[in-house]
Amino acid sequence: MAGCCTSVCDFIVEYDTPRIVLIKNRKVGVVNRVVQLAILAYVIGWVLVWEKGYQEFDSTIGSVTTKVKGIAITNSTPLEEHIWDAADYVIPSQEENSFFVMTNVILTKNQVQGRCPELPNERTRCKSDIDCASGYYNIHSNGVLTGKCVKYNEEVKTCEIFAWCPVENDTVIPKPAILGAAENFTVLIKNNIAFPKFNFSKRNILTNVSASYLKSCQFNRKNDPFCPIFRLGDMVQEAGQDFQKLAVQGGVMGILIEWNCNLDQPPSKCVPKYVFRRLDNKNFGETISPGFNFRFAKYFRNTNGTETRTLFKTYGIRFEIELFGHAGKFNIIPTMINIGSGLALLGMATILCDIIVLYFLKKSNYYKEKKYKYVEDYELGIESETSYGATQNSGTTN
Ligand SMILES: *[C@@H]1O[C@H](CO)[C@@H](O)[C@H](O)[C@H]1NC(C)=O
Ligand SMILES: *[C@@H]1O[C@H](CO)[C@@H](O)[C@H](O)[C@H]1NC(C)=O
Ligand SMILES: *[C@@H]1O[C@H](CO)[C@@H](O)[C@H](O)[C@H]1NC(C)=O
Ligand SMILES: *[C@@H]1O[C@H](CO)[C@@H](O)[C@H](O)[C@H]1NC(C)=O
Ligand SMILES: *[C@@H]1O[C@H](CO)[C@@H](O)[C@H](O)[C@H]1NC(C)=O
Repeated sequence: MAGCCTSVCDFIVEYDTPRIVLIKNRKVGVVNRVVQLAILAYVIGWVLVWEKGYQEFDSTIGSVTTKVKGIAITNSTPLEEHIWDAADYVIPSQEENSFFVMTNVILTKNQVQGRCPELPNERTRCKSDIDCASGYYNIHSNGVLTGKCVKYNEEVKTCEIFAWCPVENDTVIPKPAILGAAENFTVLIKNNIAFPKFNFSKRNILTNVSASYLKSCQFNRKNDPFCPIFRLGDMVQEAGQDFQKLAVQGGVMGILIEWNCNLDQPPSKCVPKYVFRRLDNKNFGETISPGFNFRFAKYFRNTNGTETRTLFKTYGIRFEIELFGHAGKFNIIPTMINIGSGLALLGMATILCDIIVLYFLKKSNYYKEKKYKYVEDYELGIESETSYGATQNSGTTN
């Protein structure tokens, strides 16, 4: 029985533990404690409290719908008295996470397909038919040359084209903007969000408001920061822009809705924050093609059957709504992971103090001897061991 209980038994009944060297040195002791304190402060103060290392996180998903309201009256040419409502100036009427409000327009009414003189410029001016090659066109022209040189007005002659006539003249952009009154339009933004991981959902129309409040309120950062109805002028102003200037050439605005929620607190504390920004290049002087515009046409048929259209070159502001944010909630797993990695960091103190003790102190050789057990290379070790045994033997014989 005793015979078989050799190395295996020894292994079972033995316990080995590393030996620790205690160094009584004031300098090193203080450094050790200071480093440990710093690491503890980092783990508790920064990782756990500030960065909320005890929480699990999820980011926002959600939907946005918008409704613009307001009317404008214009009485400038070519439209004499004309009223504009949302169906006229919101183009298209539905878009994903954005909406476009027309603020300025160049109208070319009653265009029909036919022959008419091209707009005068250095390429299209002509003296005789020879200057106008029949069938020629390029991407900048309004139509195909017919080969004739005709009068544009009393002074100028230009090449005749086959096109939608009369051709649009967009050399002068109306200033002030035709629909500058859009400054007073409002938009209702309805936003539903969810944090799926926490089974939490909410919308930006808070639960504590009444229907009558919602009819009359208007977003105001100081007095009414949770009203979901925004005046277009206010949003542009908050972005540091002048609405009437922006309205002339158009532009792109961003509405950022930020939901940063701490779900360890009551749900009523989870509220949206709105930020407004201008997204396109705001430096008109430095850009070649400033603002934002596009063309569309409304088609109809004359009583005699010819197809006619009204061409709109619209300038306006495109509002893009972006949704972002995240929520955190206590969870034991990230808490343990962060505490564990924090404790592991405490090992840094030991490493640092070892470096000081073994390399920077005056008595570092002494400490080295105390800390390490020196072992020779195997062959040398055998040699020294036998000679050690020999001296011992000789000692006993004496
Ligand atoms: C274009 O229209 C503006 C005014 O709207 C006018 O001053 C200009 O002369 C027109 N250009 C041409 C080429 O007809
Ligand atoms: C906006 O409304 C205010 C008052 O309701 C008015 O004084 C202002 O002229 C309006 N702005 C525009 C551009 O129509
Ligand atoms: C999510 O919350 C709702 C009530 O807010 C509850 O009815 C539903 O059972 C919850 N779902 C899960 C998966 O917990
Ligand atoms: C609704 O609750 C928010 C905070 O949760 C508060 O700031 C706001 O004033 C409340 N609104 C009304 C109309 O009571
Ligand atoms: C149709 O009527 C329009 C004006 O209403 C006129 O300009 C056009 O020449 C007519 N077309 C034909 C083919 O008669």
